[in-house]
Amino acid sequence: MTSNSTATYTSIDAKLEPSTARSPPPALFYPLDVNNLHLLNRLAVSSMCSYAAGPGNQIANLHLSRYKSFSAQHPGLIMIEGMCVDPKGKLDDKELGIWNDEQAEKLKMIVDEIHKDGCVCCVQLSHGGRKAIGGGTSGDSNGSSAASNDVDVDVEILAPSEIAYDNRSKIPKEMTLADINHVISSFAQAAKRAVTISQVDAVEISCCNGNLLHQFMSKTTNFRHDEYGCQSIESRCKLLLDIIDQVRNQIGAQPPIFIKLSACDNLFKDESLDEFLAVADLIIATGQVSLIHVTSGKITPNSKPRYSLNSNPNIPGHIPLASVLKKHINDQCLVGCSGALDMDVVKLNKYIEEGMIDVAFIGQGFLEMPDLVNQFAAKLNYKIK
Ligand SMILES: Cc1cc2nc3c(=O)[nH]c(=O)nc-3n(C[C@H](O)[C@H](O)[C@H](O)COP(=O)(O)O)c2cc1C
Repeated sequence: MTSNSTATYTSIDAKLEPSTARSPPPALFYPLDVNNLHLLNRLAVSSMCSYAAGPGNQIANLHLSRYKSFSAQHPGLIMIEGMCVDPKGKLDDKELGIWNDEQAEKLKMIVDEIHKDGCVCCVQLSHGGRKAIGGGTSGDSNGSSAASNDVDVDVEILAPSEIAYDNRSKIPKEMTLADINHVISSFAQAAKRAVTISQVDAVEISCCNGNLLHQFMSKTTNFRHDEYGCQSIESRCKLLLDIIDQVRNQIGAQPPIFIKLSACDNLFKDESLDEFLAVADLIIATGQVSLIHVTSGKITPNSKPRYSLNSNPNIPGHIPLASVLKKHINDQCLVGCSGALDMDVVKLNKYIEEGMIDVAFIGQGFLEMPDLVNQFAAKLNYKIK
């Protein structure tokens, strides 16, 4: 099983020396060790695509200023936005890519700036599958150059089955086993580039928001009957599990792997969470994953995230899902979630204090408030040293 630090706030607090135990920081500001990484607090900037890539789907000036504005606040973790592992998986022409070495070298500029501020960063790796715009670049996905010379070579998009996202979308090609192996290798090579060239501290594999891995996972989009098919949870998860395995092979033992996971598709009322927990069990059984970031929805145009269906507007909708997972997995892995967590910082602090989540991922709040970390500290009467 994984060697991650998985202690909850409460259990860490119990281990403090008596002299420091008297005035621990609020739970949200309690540090957390994840493998070799030291997170200063439990606040994480959630991954947010800016669709502002420069030529060759590389980092541009906007990214530098955006990530610098995050790291200057010293959140515990900064997620670098979704970076596409293969040109065929791009959601947008201006999505960042990490399918070649030049892209990874540019990413290092951001990572260096984040590290100068003493922060930890993780890059999100993704593939749009049937949601992609299609097309490629003249650079291949194995690390060669030509990234700055994009030329669309085709408009093929890939998916587990030939089902379009909506009636305006192209019908995707059902992936062959060769296509699947190529995608596994693209994730693994992208992770290796991110760790060895860009020097990121961790990698997150995205299996949510209706992207390719989520499409394999969901019964709504996977009608295959091979080993990656719809016949069992194991076969629907196989692509994700194979990718975890190959990513670990390529990045070595230390860097943590996170998974952003869709808990449910919300296509009918009170969708059961049993499958979600079974998927989490399979992920944890790999012994390679340090944190699961819980989200939901977006597999089809009607598939709303749970927080938009939440009947109690005072509870961020992914908190109940994440806390069910946290209870179920019994500290075998860290759990985080996103979705309006910044609506009430006192409650957010309680969720962590009570062990409902370990890490709070916040998206919009970090874009809207340049001083979010300090504002949260002030509301909790905590002075950041
Ligand atoms: C502008 C924007 C871009 C986003 N891009 C991504 C992304 O690249 N990958 C991802 O997994 N989620 C993405 N998200 C979702 C956020 O990571 C987060 O899960 C969601 O916004 C809910 O958190 P919030 O209510 O604190 O914003 C994006 C959200 C926003 C607002």
